[in-house]
Amino acid sequence: MAGERRGDRPLELSAFRQDVVAGLSAPRKCLPPKYFYDAAGSRLFARITRLSEYYVTRAELALTRRHLAAIARFAGRGCQLIEYGTGEGVKSRLLIRALRPSVYAPIDISQDALDAAARRLAREFPKLRIRPIVGDFSRPLDIPVRRTRGAPSVVYFPGSTIGNLTREEAHAFLVMSRGFAHRMLVGVDLKKDPTLLHAAYNDSRGVTAAFNLNLLARINRELGADFDLRRWRHYAFYNPAEGRIEMHLVSMTKQRVTLGKHRFQFAAGETIHSESSYKYSVEGFRELAEAAGFETRKSWTDSRGLFALHGLERS
Ligand code: SAH
Ligand code: AVI
Repeated sequence: MAGERRGDRPLELSAFRQDVVAGLSAPRKCLPPKYFYDAAGSRLFARITRLSEYYVTRAELALTRRHLAAIARFAGRGCQLIEYGTGEGVKSRLLIRALRPSVYAPIDISQDALDAAARRLAREFPKLRIRPIVGDFSRPLDIPVRRTRGAPSVVYFPGSTIGNLTREEAHAFLVMSRGFAHRMLVGVDLKKDPTLLHAAYNDSRGVTAAFNLNLLARINRELGADFDLRRWRHYAFYNPAEGRIEMHLVSMTKQRVTLGKHRFQFAAGETIHSESSYKYSVEGFRELAEAAGFETRKSWTDSRGLFALHGLERS
């Protein structure tokens, strides 16, 4: 079961430092989005999900409630349920209630978010065997499922977090999951009017901007860098050729940032690409799943056609 725990902090920190140095040394500077989610970042994301412009969470919750019986029939009651990127676990609660899994393994890189979600779910479902794993799902993890003679294992990956992976990463992730998952439920944000997308990632209260800027604040806090946050701005736009929202951090002046022995030079207007959020048509996602060895058996969407939940089966 394992995963990474508090005791592994030095290892985590050195991986974080290495990833930041590599990203800021690239010709087009970038940072991996998984580092958004420290305690502050997880709290900011929770606020994003409640914003009027951020339709993503509401649409997925609505479709899950509406199709819950069919979703439960597809996944199968009593299954071993593994969830990637649980966050607050709001959708998890719906699924657990309907599926009554024999074991539930929520996985998240954010220790704080996972601890809080696991505590809440344990209170609500006192008989449920919960096996939380703090870890990075882009690397192989020790998942506590019984591969033989156990109930079928079902992977739940809601929230369109798969959209934060590149297509190659998403492919590799699905292939890895195929190693132990009989079925998967994957929540995916659909392609739509770019105006709606633009508003969702440029909210009027500036919460998404704070979420993006927190990445630099975290690098200062944990790695001792000296980003001057007053000299950086949030910038998000839809890139139609790539079918993705891109979030960037824009350097407002020419400046230099220090991280230990490393110096990074930024021109005025230069950006750090901090996140991509890919949007998939139903067909586009089915192709991705098929290439990874899954058959899409069901695709549920909300009444406004904003979001899809795909039911995949190992082919
Ligand atoms: N499932 C929730 C939360 C989505 S936010 C929802 O639908 O609202 C994305 C979640 O995935 C966060 O909780 C974040 O901490 C987690 N996450 C992001 N990258 C991760 C990674 N590489 N490994 C594990 N968890 C990750
Ligand atoms: C978690 N993930 C699917 C969110 C998204 O919409 O890509 C993260 C996020 N970034 C900005 N707003 C929300």
